[in-house]
Amino acid sequence: MNMLSEAAVEKALDKKMNEVAYKMIGKDVSVYYGEKRALFDVNLNVRENTVTALIGPSGCGKSTFLRTLNRMNDTIENCRVTGKITLDTDDIYDKEIDVVELRARVGMVFQKPNPFPKSIYENISYGPRIHGLARGKAEMDAIVEASLQRAGLWGEVKDRLHEGGTGLSGGQQQRLCIARAIAVSPEVILMDEPCSALDPIATAKVEELIHELRANYTIVIVTHSMQQAARVSQRTAMFHLGQLVEENDTDKMFTNPDDQRTQDYIMGRFG
Ligand SMILES: Nc1ncnc2c1ncn2[C@@H]1O[C@H](COP(=O)(O)OP(=O)(O)OP(=O)(O)O)[C@@H](O)[C@H]1O
Ligand SMILES: [Mg+2]
Repeated sequence: MNMLSEAAVEKALDKKMNEVAYKMIGKDVSVYYGEKRALFDVNLNVRENTVTALIGPSGCGKSTFLRTLNRMNDTIENCRVTGKITLDTDDIYDKEIDVVELRARVGMVFQKPNPFPKSIYENISYGPRIHGLARGKAEMDAIVEASLQRAGLWGEVKDRLHEGGTGLSGGQQQRLCIARAIAVSPEVILMDEPCSALDPIATAKVEELIHELRANYTIVIVTHSMQQAARVSQRTAMFHLGQLVEENDTDKMFTNPDDQRTQDYIMGRFG
């Protein structure tokens, strides 16, 4: 490589470092449940390979917003979404969008671990099978192993892959659900209070996992725990009464937030 092109490469890398890459862009997102409006013109962009935490008092709209990102609200009767949300350049509410495929690209992990009442192996292989990601058993075995490895569960379950997923501990079940989400190679993983049913040790494992997953995925996590938000996220968004109050670097949110409501919430003055 000659000097000139080396300099050019360096310059390009510099530019990349300074550029913020948005994986998802939410513009004027509002959500209604029947007559009731739950979100008011939320403008929130989700950065690529970043963990974004959604915080705020109960009922402020965190889960509602999270569900707009993979159209889980479609499954709720009477729920209506307005505004625009893009994943890369795709408008995810476009009529042409295949929702099943969207939910493979934007996976979800719920509050309560919800493995299928099937074996550990089948919990993982189900998604890749319906999406046609494996050509035969050897490939499927490899996907199952890699997903469990990434979810930090392989060592604990490799000798019992054909036993029921529901026989695992709560923390293991939650990591199984994360492995299941990973198995279809998502780009974004949404997590709605993924640790609220877990003990401190299982919580620490899942947090560690979130930290590692960030290298390969974009993660949005709802949490009631300020400590958890501070530990796992790089960006934090604060909601209140259906409005996005503030979105900022997590460090700044927890030391010197711009909005008084964020300050009050973080100090435990309401919520
Ligand atoms: N399926 C639904 N039907 C009607 N209203 C709903 C539904 N889901 C949520 N809401 C309402 O929308 C508002 C936002 O709810 P949401 O569940 O998004 O809040 P949240 O911030 O996730 O709260 P929590 O921290 O308690 O989980 C609330 O007023 C709630 O009552
Ligand atoms: Mg919620």
